[in-house]
Amino acid sequence: MDSPSNSTDPAPETTASPASLTPTFVGRQVCGECHEENFHLHSKSGHASTFVNTRDSDIAKKFVGKTLDAGEPYGLLEYSMDENGLRVKRVDDPSNQSFPLEFALGSGHNAVTFLSLVSDADEDTLGIEHRVSWFAADDHFGLTPGQIGSSPTTLAQFFGNSVQDEHMHACVNCHTTSGKIIDKNIVDLVPNVNCEKCHGPGSEHVRQARLSNNPPPFSVGNDDWNAESELQLCGDCHRLPIDFPPKQLREYPRLMARFQPVGMLRSQCYLQSRGKFKCTTCHNPHQASTAKSTEAYVDDCVQCHTENTADHVACPVSPQTGCIECHMPPLRFEQGMTFHDHYIRVHPED
Ligand code: HEC
Ligand code: HEC
Ligand code: HEC
Ligand code: HEC
Ligand code: HEC
Ligand code: HEC
Ligand code: HEC
Repeated sequence: MDSPSNSTDPAPETTASPASLTPTFVGRQVCGECHEENFHLHSKSGHASTFVNTRDSDIAKKFVGKTLDAGEPYGLLEYSMDENGLRVKRVDDPSNQSFPLEFALGSGHNAVTFLSLVSDADEDTLGIEHRVSWFAADDHFGLTPGQIGSSPTTLAQFFGNSVQDEHMHACVNCHTTSGKIIDKNIVDLVPNVNCEKCHGPGSEHVRQARLSNNPPPFSVGNDDWNAESELQLCGDCHRLPIDFPPKQLREYPRLMARFQPVGMLRSQCYLQSRGKFKCTTCHNPHQASTAKSTEAYVDDCVQCHTENTADHVACPVSPQTGCIECHMPPLRFEQGMTFHDHYIRVHPED
């Protein structure tokens, strides 16, 4: 994963033609030639490993040889690996047919779920989200969130819920840099959330950077990136209020903590900072969130909330430490998944 020669990325481009006016994707290893630090930070973040073929997934290997109970009427599922990736079959199925599990989604920070692309009765492409997932908490296997009350109506659904149409396309879009689902395949697939997903296709930038050390500003530079455009970028995948019904936004149930931008947008820190509070106030977008210490996050809070500024108030309870635990607590979800509530506030239980 850390290797610049990720086989699934497009081949490194050495001579981008000046004639190619529409920039194309060059792959993250090319960016890494000149932006080494961001390249290495990104390699270790969830963005860089959220979509892999099960053939290359260490988590998929954990399933091999296991028999797992998918609940009634699904029965026991048995896993094996061949040169194309992971396969699953139902122990009770007399036909003994196995089903391919093609892609592993999720870096393993919280969980990994498998996705397969198959044909439905009309020969249209359909996604099957596998019924059993792996969860980082206690290194355990369990039912994929959202599949507890499901009941299968087709043979394929014995292996998981179907995802169709825009949901299927969105699933792939949020976890990859590029790729189009055509006839059970993903054409022009560049897996994972790589440099060019956020910065745009880079061939023209690379061409200009090779001609001079001072290329013109490229996509999201420090200069033209503001709280709104950044929120739009991150929120496209991490979700924005527009993705939820008004009732849910009003009541803000606990499960909303999975969608950080929604919580952040309700916080007084955001509302009263006149555009100075954004995701990158606390996150380096190239770095895993867990790679930064809790103390460093506290420093971000204290930068604004000090006792000696007229602009902001300091905490009357604990002015120097422990901010995250009390005001952005980690919440445990089903199967032990954990998210930090980005609706920064005084919690009733504090
Ligand atoms: C194309 C979709 C997409 C965009 C755009 C995106 N993310 Fe993510 N992000 C993801 C996915 C998918 C994951 C889950 C990674 C995994 O499997 O663990 C993730 C995970 C994360 C994580 C936690 C994982 C880790 O390694 O710490 C942070 C923090 C994060 N994103 C911040 C951001 C910020 C900040 C932005 C905007 C600058 C952003 N993301 C934009 C899709 C996206
Ligand atoms: C709108 C964008 C979007 C869509 C659509 C989407 N995901 Fe994700 N997914 C994300 C983001 C963002 C995260 C990171 C959540 C975090 O860490 O806060 C994520 C995380 C995950 C994880 C890690 C566990 C977790 O819940 O954090 C898995 C597994 C996953 N997605 C699978 C899927 C599958 C399978 C589909 C399609 C059926 C899908 N996702 C559709 C954006 C999306
Ligand atoms: C999740 C979205 C996202 C991904 C993926 C991403 N970037 Fe960035 N990048 C940003 C944002 C947002 C900024 C602006 C940061 C700021 O204003 O603090 C930025 C800033 C930069 C900058 C200028 C500031 C700096 O940190 O030096 C460079 C260079 C850069 N990115 C290169 C890369 C490279 C190379 C990769 C891939 C290895 C990459 N980025 C992947 C979102 C992303
Ligand atoms: C041949 C070297 C080279 C390559 C390859 C390269 N860059 Fe750059 N890039 C530069 C230089 C030089 C600058 C200007 C100085 C700086 O900001 O570091 C720059 C600036 C940037 C900036 C900041 C622009 C701004 O206006 O602040 C971003 C973002 C960026 N590059 C992203 C990328 C991405 C993404 C890739 C891969 C698609 C890439 N670069 C490939 C040399 C390169
Ligand atoms: C860019 C500056 C900024 C940063 C960084 C920041 N805040 Fe705030 N926060 C504010 C502003 C502005 C308010 C409104 C009250 C005030 O003027 O202090 C506020 C309000 C609050 C409140 C009161 C909320 C309410 O509903 O009354 C809490 C609690 C809080 N912040 C905690 C934090 C914590 C914890 C962090 C770090 C994780 C943090 N803040 C980071 C600017 C910031
Ligand atoms: C005031 C600081 C702050 C801001 C602003 C902020 N985050 Fe976070 N974020 C955190 C902290 C603290 C964690 C927990 C880090 C850890 O694991 O120790 C976190 C964790 C995350 C995670 C990992 C999953 C989770 O919820 O634990 C994701 C994804 C994430 N943030 C996305 C975002 C996005 C997207 C934005 C902008 C909409 C954003 N964050 C804005 C402080 C912040
Ligand atoms: C032990 C839990 C705890 C810790 C740790 C903590 N706070 Fe608080 N904080 C509270 C409680 C409770 C209140 C409400 C106090 C009240 O209303 O009298 C509060 C209030 C606040 C307020 C609103 C003050 C006002 O006058 O409106 C801000 C801002 C704040 N905290 C920021 C922080 C920051 C920044 C940190 C870390 C340096 C932090 N807090 C650490 C529990 C905590």
